[in-house]
Parts: sequence; structure tokens; C-alpha cells
Amino acid sequence: MQNKPKFYITTPIYYPSDNLHIGHSYCSTAADTIARYKKLTGYDVFFLTGTDEHGQKIERKAKDAGVTPQQYVDKIVAGIKELWKMMDIDYDDFIRTTDERHVKSVQKIFRQLYDQGDIYKSEYEGWYCTPCESFWTELQLKDGCCPDCGRPVEKTREESYFFRLSKYQDWLIDYIKANPEFIQPSSRTAEMLNNFLLPGLQDLCVSRTSLKWGIPVDFDPKHTVYVWVDALTNYITALGYGSRDDSLYRKYWPADLHLVGKEIVRFHTIIWPIMLHALGLPLPKQVFGHGWLVIDGGKMSKSKGNVVDPVKLCERYGSDAIRYFLMREMPFGADGEFSNEALVKRINSDLANDLGNLVSRSVAMIEKYFAGKVPQPAAYQEIDRQLIAKAENLWKTYSTDMDALQFSSALSEVWKLIGECNRYIDQTMPWVLAKREEDRGRLGTVLYVLAECARIVAVAISPVMPRTPARIFEQLGIRDEALMTWESIKHFGAMDGQTVHKGEALFPRLDIEKELKETAMPAVQEKAEPQTEAEVTFTQADEVGIDSFEPVQLVVAKVLECQKVPKADKLLQLRLKVGNTERTVLSGIAKHYAPEALIGKKVVLFANLAPRKIRGIESSGMLLCAVNEQAGKLTLLTVDEDIEDGSEIG
Ligand code: MSP
Repeated sequence: MQNKPKFYITTPIYYPSDNLHIGHSYCSTAADTIARYKKLTGYDVFFLTGTDEHGQKIERKAKDAGVTPQQYVDKIVAGIKELWKMMDIDYDDFIRTTDERHVKSVQKIFRQLYDQGDIYKSEYEGWYCTPCESFWTELQLKDGCCPDCGRPVEKTREESYFFRLSKYQDWLIDYIKANPEFIQPSSRTAEMLNNFLLPGLQDLCVSRTSLKWGIPVDFDPKHTVYVWVDALTNYITALGYGSRDDSLYRKYWPADLHLVGKEIVRFHTIIWPIMLHALGLPLPKQVFGHGWLVIDGGKMSKSKGNVVDPVKLCERYGSDAIRYFLMREMPFGADGEFSNEALVKRINSDLANDLGNLVSRSVAMIEKYFAGKVPQPAAYQEIDRQLIAKAENLWKTYSTDMDALQFSSALSEVWKLIGECNRYIDQTMPWVLAKREEDRGRLGTVLYVLAECARIVAVAISPVMPRTPARIFEQLGIRDEALMTWESIKHFGAMDGQTVHKGEALFPRLDIEKELKETAMPAVQEKAEPQTEAEVTFTQADEVGIDSFEPVQLVVAKVLECQKVPKADKLLQLRLKVGNTERTVLSGIAKHYAPEALIGKKVVLFANLAPRKIRGIESSGMLLCAVNEQAGKLTLLTVDEDIEDGSEIG
């Protein structure tokens, strides 16, 4: 244990504001895959994940749900841990920012930065985006909204503590330039330098007085530590930094890899390194910003109603198939499209056909021709030697890709070998060899080569698919752990007379049409947008929790312009003012209102409905109406003149 090199890997800590979707699982699966790969190749790995539990968003949600913030997060965190168990995310520690160990250490760090003059007290005036927990200056706003998520921001003015980011700006620029490996993929380095660092850093507001659900500044308790300062620190507080027992910190820090989604690279490569440097601590070796799993080109989000539930997928297809798909389908770093169709096709072609066939055909033939005992090979021929060389060299190409976090390429190397094996079966035709006694030695050699290749494949896929290898070993009759190690796949020929057992198909073939019909993106359907020009009608609904309302953003909008849509009798096209922004919305109320009668009215807009094109015009949102079906009457909901447009309704 002592001699092993260490490897410390982290995922971001997740907001427990919601059920996690497949996009979150993407990040954890990648981190778990790396952790398993590093363990397999001889590292002493520490893998950290956790939850980021403070902030205004949680405070509000808990209030809406009628529970304390702690009760609110406890329940969700339990669900997150269940999900990770289901997906075989085998972390070494799960840090919660509400843990006492974390809170104490954050307070100590804040105090140290204050004592040494890197944090100072002043007054903050600016804009705050609650969903992103980010402060913005007037100049940074985009059309008056958050430049990151596009949602409305709130004006904030309060006494605050500030962190001297500006003081460290030149140091960080030099550091990033001198350490090109620090931010990966390298395109993100340019993004950080050009968009944030070179234009100049401003000091960061790191406390709030209006927020109570957070870590109090211990020497000035009306202030709460800014959530990102609180959250980023988890990577060292989990290791006991600042506590009496900091042995893990001394052993594992600096982190070898912070794996994060692309939208939070800037927190990890600007605020975090400056904090560490100010504290006199070493920097993580690498921050890798992976891309997003998208649907129809857009980010998955609850408000768009297109989230994919990983629990449902794992229940239906098994976690190994889901993990395989996530790691195989798209190059790590870039965005990748998720679809049920692509998933089912991959399961059928790669898992049921390629891998499943290799194992089942090899085992079945050993059972049939050698009474289940793996035969000893006789002299190898050229065709055997070629395949053996490929199998013996797999670890080299595979590890080059895995070390570069190119999971998809690494898996493609494994599947190349699987493809070669299946071709080898077709070329050597064991069933023909089996017909002649004098070919028995040759038949034994062919089946030995296949069994040994299947063993090598099983070891190689184990970081991505932790369950399947055990099933392959079971079928191959391998019990000796020495045949399951990384070292054991560097040399061909470890199998020796094992007794195989034909088992169930590793991955049963799926009927694509049936799957697509039955799954049909369940989460998408539940919240599908209205299909027609007409507005939604409300039927007697089941009772729902406050959570169902929460993602819907209702705001007051003022009608600036209104006209009929040509060749559509039901549709009006409205130009709306919402605070500092304007947008176009189509509404199916033409039979009920003359366009000019609506100008100047204040109406209720469902603002975060995904935009859709109707008759070639993009409609961004939906106007709420009261519907009286019997009387065939539709009345637009309006609000008092003196309520400002842009006001949120909740
Ligand atoms: N709490 C912060 C992180 C603090 S780390 C000190 C946070 N949490 S999050 O729950 O919103 O996101 C956690 C991770 O999930 C992020 O890396 C984010 O990029 C990732 N993903 C969320 N949706 C995703 C996709 N659709 N696709 C891929 N990753 C996605 O940010």
C-alpha cells in the first residue's frame, strides 16, 4: 500500500435541489470510471463526491415545502446516495457542506484570509442570480438578465466581505500559461484567459447578510459565507484540512483531477486556485471541464421538461449498459446528444451482439467440443499470432486513451479486439474443425485463444462496467483473482484448464420499436408542451407537491404590440416587455380579442417554456388564460396596472 502512487479525484458536489438527472450521472460515471481504472492500474485512489447544500435556492425551496432547510436537504441527499449505489459509483467519501467538519474548516479558512488581509469588508451593490448563485455587475448582464442562464437577476445592496481576486490576477495568468495541463481540454484554457482573466478580475463579494442558510462568518455572524467559497473548499475539508486529524489531507492533496462540467470551470480555475494560493496551499494538478449531455441540442433541465431519469434507465437496462453508453457514445470534453434510440442501438450492437456473442459462442463451443474444459493450445499459426498480438497490446492503446480521459476511444480499442475475435471465429470455423479428429489440436488452440481474449476483454471493460466482468469470469470458470488483474492482461496465456459454465446472455437483444414505444422519453412526455395553437386547458388534476410548480416561471409582461398571424384564425402575435427585455409570444386568443385591445395590458407569462416555432414564428413563452369550455370563452389573465412588468409571480 505504501509504495503505490496516490490519485485523488473529485466530482463537483451536487446541488440537492432536485432529483439528479442523467447529465449529473454522466459526471459521476466518468469520475468513477477513472477511479476504478487507476485502482486497477496500481494507484492508491481517493475518490470524493458530495452535495452542495447551502444557498438561497435551497432556503426558498425548503420554505415552500414547509420544512427546515436541513430536513429538505437530508431527504434529497438520501436519494442521491441511493442513485450512486444503483450506478455503482464507488466513492471513498461523501462530503456534505452541512457536515460539521466542513463548516468548522470553512470558518477557519475565511478567518485566515481575513486576518492576512486577503478578505476585507466593504459594501456590495450589484445584481444576483439566485439559480446560479452568482453576482454580476451591471455591465456583465445580458439584456438585463443573468449572462449564464438568461433568467432575471435581483438588485442587491449590502455590507459584504470581499476577496482580493484582483491582487492575484497576474500570478494566475502566469501560472496558467506556465502550466498548460492545469485546465483541460486546452480550449477551455483560452476561454478562461480571454473571457475572464485578461479583461481583468474584480474583487469577489464573499459574504451575504440577506442569506441565513449557509455558513456564518464566525467573527461576524450576521454574514454568511458565499456559497461558492463554501462549496469549493469541500475538496480539502473532506480530507480533514484545518482539523486535528489532517492525515488524509497530507496524503492526498493536491488533487490529481477535479472533474467538472464546462459551465463551472471558471469557478474551479479562477476563484479556487486563488484561494489556495492565498492560503499557501498547492493547486490541483488538473481541472477537466467535460461537455454536457444534451437533448435535441439543448441542455437538459427540469424547467424544459426534458430530463432523463437515470433510475428508470438503470432499472430497465442495468447500470452497466447505461455506464457503457455514457462513456462510449461521445468524446469526453465535447457535448453529446442523449437519445433512447441511440442507447438501445448501442446495447444491441455493442453489448448483445459483439460482446455477448464472443462470450456465448466461445463458452458454448468449449462446452460442446471439450466437455466444458478450456483446452490447452497446440502450436500457434499466423492467424492466431496476429490476434494474440492485438490482445496482448490492448492495454497499451487502452491506457493511452484512458490516461487522456478519452473513454470513448479506449472502449473503441476494446471493441476492435472483440470484432477481431468474432471475425477470427468466422475465419477459423471451429464447427468445421470439430468434424475431423486430426483437427482436434487446432480446434483446441482456436478455442483457447478465444477464451483468453474474452478474459482480457473482461478485465479491460471493468472500470466502465463493474458488474459484467464477474459474469464473464463466471462463464469462463475463472476464480483466481490473479487472472483478473491489469498485469495479467499484458501477457497472453494465463488460462489453464478452467471449467466453463454457459450462463444467461450477458445482454439480451432488445426490440427497438418496443423499447422506443414503451420508454418514449417518459420524463419528456410528462411535461410535454401544448401541441396546438390553443392555450392549455386545465382538467381535474391529481394533487401535486409544490415541487411541480417550482420550475414554472411566471412573470408579469406588458403588451407592446399585437397583431393577427396571417392565415391562422386563432393566433395573435404579441410583442411583450418583461423588465429590461422584450420577447415575442404567440397566443391562441384571436377569436376572443381584437389585437389593438390588448396593447398596454399587463398579462401573465409562462416565461421559461421552451421556445417553439409556430407557423415559422418563434414563440418564447405562453400567456395564461382562464378557460370556460362550456361557454367556449377564453379570458386572458391580466394584473393591476401598477404591478411592474418583469415581476415574478410565485
Ligand atoms: N454545486 C455546484 C458545483 C460545486 S463544486 C464545488 C453545481 N452543482 S450541479 O448539481 O448543478 O452540477 C453538478 C455537475 O453536474 C456539474 O459539473 C454539471 O456540469 C454537471 N451536469 C449537470 N447537468 C449536466 C448535463 N446535462 N450534462 C453533463 N453534465 C451536467 O454545479
